[in-house]
Order: sequence, then C-alpha cells, then structure tokens
Amino acid sequence: MLRTHDLNVMQDVESLFHPYTLLAKQRETGPLVMTRGDGIYVEDDQGNRYLEGMSGLWCTALGFSEQRLVDAATRQMHKLPYYQLFAGRANEPSIELSHRLIEKTKHLGMDKAMFANSGSEANDQAVKMIWYYFNAIGKPNKKKLIARERGYHGVTVMSASLTGLAGNHMDFDLPIGDRVLRTASPSHYHYAKPGESEAQFVDRIVAELEALIAREGADTIAAFFGEPVQGAGGVIIPPPGYWEKVQAVLKKNDILLVADEVITGFGRTGHWFGCDAYQIRPDIMTVAKALSSSYLPISATLVSARIYEGLTQGSTRNGVFSHGVTYAGHPVCAAVAIETLKIYEERDLVGHARNISPHFLQRLQALESHAMVHATRGTGLIGAFELVQDKATRKTFDAASGMLARVQSAGLEVGVIVRPLRDTIAVCPPLIINDAQIDELFDKIRRALDLAHADARKAGLMP
Ligand SMILES: Cc1ncc(COP(=O)(O)O)c(C=O)c1O
Repeated sequence: MLRTHDLNVMQDVESLFHPYTLLAKQRETGPLVMTRGDGIYVEDDQGNRYLEGMSGLWCTALGFSEQRLVDAATRQMHKLPYYQLFAGRANEPSIELSHRLIEKTKHLGMDKAMFANSGSEANDQAVKMIWYYFNAIGKPNKKKLIARERGYHGVTVMSASLTGLAGNHMDFDLPIGDRVLRTASPSHYHYAKPGESEAQFVDRIVAELEALIAREGADTIAAFFGEPVQGAGGVIIPPPGYWEKVQAVLKKNDILLVADEVITGFGRTGHWFGCDAYQIRPDIMTVAKALSSSYLPISATLVSARIYEGLTQGSTRNGVFSHGVTYAGHPVCAAVAIETLKIYEERDLVGHARNISPHFLQRLQALESHAMVHATRGTGLIGAFELVQDKATRKTFDAASGMLARVQSAGLEVGVIVRPLRDTIAVCPPLIINDAQIDELFDKIRRALDLAHADARKAGLMP
C-alpha cells in the first residue's frame, strides 16, 4: 500500500528512478526506506528492524556502524577532500591503498592497481586494457572475450555485455558488437545431464570451451572473464577441478584470465580472494564492494606485470594512456578502503569467516528439510537455496506465482533480508556475523519460508 500521507514516499514515487526495480509496481508500493543501521542490522523509517542477510548488495562486510570508517573518511575530508590521479598526480591514500592491494595479491601475480568507482567500471576498464594490450604487443586480432552463462560483471555497456543474464540484455540492445563469446556456467545443479557426475560435467563443459576456442580461433580470443564463485547468477559454487581445467585450456591457448572478485574478494569465501580458494592465477583481477565495506564507492582493476608492461609499451608509442575517471583513487574513498583492510587484518575477519562457515553451511543445509527447499549450496559466508513447488520433480514456481518475491516479503515481515535470483534465494551476511546471529538468520529464514508455504497452500500451488 502506497503511504500517500508520507512526504518521503510520495517524493520517491514522483522523482526517484530506482535501479533494478519493477518500475510500474514501484509507483503502487513506494519504497522501503532504510534510515539507520547497526552491526548486521538495518532499520526502516517505520522502526522495523531487519537482519541484513545480503550485506546490502553482497558488500557491507563490516556491517552498518563501523565508527573507524566514519572517522577515516572525516579525517581525510578535512585534510584533502579531493585530488585526482591524472597526469602523474597523486594523493596519499590512493598510493597507500594501491600498495596494500598489491601486497595482498602479489602471490596471485598482481603488480599494479588502477582505481575506479564501481565493479562495472572495473570490468569495463579491464576490457579496454586488454584490447589496448593486444594492440600494443602487435596481436591486434586477439580481441574476443569469453564470458559465462549466469556470469555477472555489471551493467555498463561492456560489462553488461559480458554479463550472461537475459534481463541485462533484453531491450537494452546488448551484448554490444560481436566480441563476446558465451560459454557454460559451472552449475552442475542446473545443467548436468541425467546421471552425469560432477567430474563428467566438468569434463564436458571444459571440452565445450575448448571446442569454442578451436572454432573461433585462439588467435582471435583475448580473455576469459569469470567470477571464482558466480554470485548474481545464483551463487554457483564451481565443482572440484573446474578452475584447474579451465586454466589449463586458457594457458594452452594464450588467453588471459580475468578474475572478477567483486563479490568474492576480501574474505567472502573464507580466503582473502576467491583466487586463493580455487588456486586461480589470473592476469587481471577486479575488486570493489568489500574493498571499502561499501561505505564509499571504490573499485580497482589489478593487472600483472606482463599486462602493465604491454600497456606501457603502447603508451610509449601512443602518448598518454587516455583512460581514467575523475574519481579514480578518490582520497576519501581510498582512506576508507585502507581502514577497511586494516580492520580485516586486525580482527582476522577472513579467519573468522572461515571458522564460522561450517555453522553457516550447516544451518543452510538444514533448510533442505523444508517443503519448499530442494537443494542448498554455499562456501565461506555465501550461500543459496533452490525454491521448488514440488521437491520430488524439482518443479519450480512459475514466475507469475510471485512465490520468490513472497519469500522475500515474508522475510521482511519476520525481520530478515534475503534476495531472490530466479528460482534461487541468496544469503550473504556481513562477515562480522557471529554464531548466535547465524542462528537468528536461519530461524528467520525458516519462518519466512513457513509463511510463504502457507500462502502457496492457500493458493493451491502446494498440497
Ligand atoms: C561479480 C560482480 N561483478 C561486478 C559487479 C558490478 O558491480 P557494481 O554494481 O559496483 O557496478 C557485481 C555487482 O553485484 C558483481 O557481483
């Protein structure tokens, strides 16, 4: 019900164009306005409190009230609120942050960090760097990019083209151009053939990747983009052996690997990076979100020495490397990111995520006893479950039934925020969550499922 007496709500409906929102419905319902946060909880303008089971958009790793980040921003605001990095200029926080990021990723082969504001931009500039690199080293035909079904790399024209989700393409006239090649998602749950083991599934999709490369010609393919764990595509945990075999194929064909660590970076998998969790050795990494616990927008594209040298050669020939955004390495955002990294270290939050993960995964798995849940999966502190109408046949709900949205709204009623993604419900709490709060998270999810189940029965959708 639209709260027509509420000025905020009416101004929202009149003026605010919401991203990723059912636009017509928004006019009827108005917004859910959050006004404050503490720890892993947020509170709306009606005083309702929610356990933020998605860390906002998979991002507020330190929760919603970390005073040290506020202080870091304030200090930097007073000292130097803005200065750019163009033309060899710098500010102190962006230098320190790049140093810390490279220190943390040196073992993965990273050598230089270029900043931007969002995950989408970080991936976008990765593409531009790759194209520039292959021109610089005299391989101008090597330009195509392989990206996966269910991959999510953002929404700018190029990063949305890499994204492998229909909604990001439909009527946006994307993917743009003909340089994006699509390969399989490593989701055994969704795409295994009847009776196919995980190992057989991996062998099949890796063989399909090899066939794609052979068909297109390795000398035309520049890079492969992948999230170590696919997030928005449904929290897809790669089966054992997947990354090892994919990397072997890429190496053999001299195809660069871009690890999109926008969700998996900084502890989400119980390791500093998804690359550590799956022994991935990328040429480029993109990071954002938990880099600043999302208190301020900042992202980075990290590149290996080989890529940086190539780009330097190109710039020696072409002149200025003509890429960069006004706010790249913004000193206030960088100061907050430095403080965030310090907190991760001091509190060993990566170790905490790893230690607490078994409890998280065990409570997640216990949802499988619920009538509407068919399967669960997770790693570290990220997980998901599949919502089904019929467990025996794995039949999912029709989109028109509104049951996925119902689970989300039932969650709000009982005070927990989760996120529906197609037939999947994702869970990704702040890394600071403790054991008791994990119990609260899953108790509430179960109550939300019970409410949704009761509605499904009333509507005759389930026995
Ligand atoms: C893996 C991944 N890459 C890129 C992005 C895009 O980041 P942003 O929304 O900051 O542009 C996201 C956002 O959810 C993401 O999950």
